[in-house]
Amino acid sequence: VEETLVLVKPDGVARNLTGEILRRIEAKGYQLVDIKLVEADLDLLAAHYEEHQGKPFYEPLVEFMMSGPVVALRIAGNRSIEGFRALAGTTDPTTAAAGTIRGDLGRDWGLRVQQNLVHGSDSPESAARELALWF
Ligand code: GTP
Ligand code: MG
Repeated sequence: VEETLVLVKPDGVARNLTGEILRRIEAKGYQLVDIKLVEADLDLLAAHYEEHQGKPFYEPLVEFMMSGPVVALRIAGNRSIEGFRALAGTTDPTTAAAGTIRGDLGRDWGLRVQQNLVHGSDSPESAARELALWF
């Protein structure tokens, strides 16, 4: 089985959507292996979002991710990396497909960073790297 890192971002925690998001993950058949409430600091987020450093949305993104606690989930399942990203939907919640977490529950308030509820690792390499960072 493949493991992936899922984060319920601060907007998801603040809107009491952690349970709903975990419900969708479990309903898909994925196994919850570990779970943790984290107040992420700058070092952790700089490492997590290494690939986005220097992009215009990087600083507001990191600020947003420090605006409240995040729930980190270690999830296991057959092709869970690609499968969870399909469950999550595309990055921009305003156009994410209905039936996805971001499409059904995500909002866009016209802020500089999309508050898109969740993060999911995008490759086996990033899953290994990110799981080691958060757990
Ligand atoms: P994650 O699962 O959170 O990594 O989402 P993703 O893989 O769909 O997006 P990506 O890794 O490209 O970007 C990480 C996060 O930065 C996104 O989830 C958004 O919150 C934010 N972001 C990415 N691209 C943009 C953009 O073009 N504009 C703005 N405002 N925010 C962005
Ligand atoms: Mg990403």
